[in-house]
Amino acid sequence: MKIGILTGGGDCPGLNAVIRAVVRKSILFYNSEVIGILEGWRGLMVEGLTEDLVLDKVSGILHRGGTIIKTSRTNPYKEKDGEKKVIENKKKLGLDALVVVGGEDTLGVAAKLHQAGVKIVGVPKTIDNDLAMTDYTFGFDTAVNTAMEAIDRVHTTAESHNRVMVVEVMGRHTGWIAIEAGIAGGADIILIPEKPVNLDKVCEAICKRHARGKDFSIVVVAEGARIALHEENHKKESFIVQDECLDAFGHVRLGGIGKLLATEIEKRTGFETRFVILGHIQRGGTPTAFDRVLGTRFGIAAVDLVHKGEFGKMVSLQGNKIVPVDLTDAVAKLKYVDEEFYNIAEVFSA
Ligand code: F6P
Repeated sequence: MKIGILTGGGDCPGLNAVIRAVVRKSILFYNSEVIGILEGWRGLMVEGLTEDLVLDKVSGILHRGGTIIKTSRTNPYKEKDGEKKVIENKKKLGLDALVVVGGEDTLGVAAKLHQAGVKIVGVPKTIDNDLAMTDYTFGFDTAVNTAMEAIDRVHTTAESHNRVMVVEVMGRHTGWIAIEAGIAGGADIILIPEKPVNLDKVCEAICKRHARGKDFSIVVVAEGARIALHEENHKKESFIVQDECLDAFGHVRLGGIGKLLATEIEKRTGFETRFVILGHIQRGGTPTAFDRVLGTRFGIAAVDLVHKGEFGKMVSLQGNKIVPVDLTDAVAKLKYVDEEFYNIAEVFSA
């Protein structure tokens, strides 16, 4: 059997663990070949963007961040004859099946291609942890640990200077990174997209905390949190975006809420306030043990599904079991932060 593998969307730690597992299990246990399709779906839109993944190619990559087969946010369904090109190129390459590693966008394309007859198994990846039908995606644990470490560092400088520090984390339209990193890092206030931000309440909570004798506060805010800043526009909450451009999947580039929040907090409370935006630091570098193991388990399970002929599935983590679920169900809706997590964060709120 000849299997193609591609990684699409934003990179994240643990991708190489998946690739390594897919290659080793395919070659050593199924006597199959693996072809790496380079740069996500772009690699199947043009000819020649591939690389044979022999055992040597995946040696020494487990601990490396990023993806050795590269990635892109290419959406074949936004390109002329995109679906046709993907199917033709897959055929030219003689691929029997595809293992597609990605988040909601990349796997959304995979689900459509499966409906068009392509034999596909999906692997859930994203630091945002917003994919439905799986408890965790790999990459998330590393991002949370990176953000937690940053919050720890910010703590000591906030304390030394009697400052409010606002830490902006990624996560797109869900607050998983913010809530878990915030809880782990002992943040005083955690703001997530699932709950509209009430600036008056935020400032009130900070003032109360300072009145109790604390002279610094840590605010963790998810980039996708919504905020109403102008009095005359109080009812209208909006996302803070970096620019007006949309990517091939129609997403805006979020970012900047940390700065706005810091300015407003300082203005309203009088406490000196600074902000940090963690950005892509959360996506880079070596994966945690959890992400290496999860990526490895997902990769192995994906190859097993291919060989069982179970296509149109995504491998998922449920409890501590790897379970196949329907790709279409996985991309049908986002997975938002559970109320339970939010209630925990509230216990420690300023
Ligand atoms: O989906 C992963 C993610 O890191 C989001 O948290 C973030 O909003 C987005 O990707 C950033 O995308 P880019 O790398 O294209 O700037």
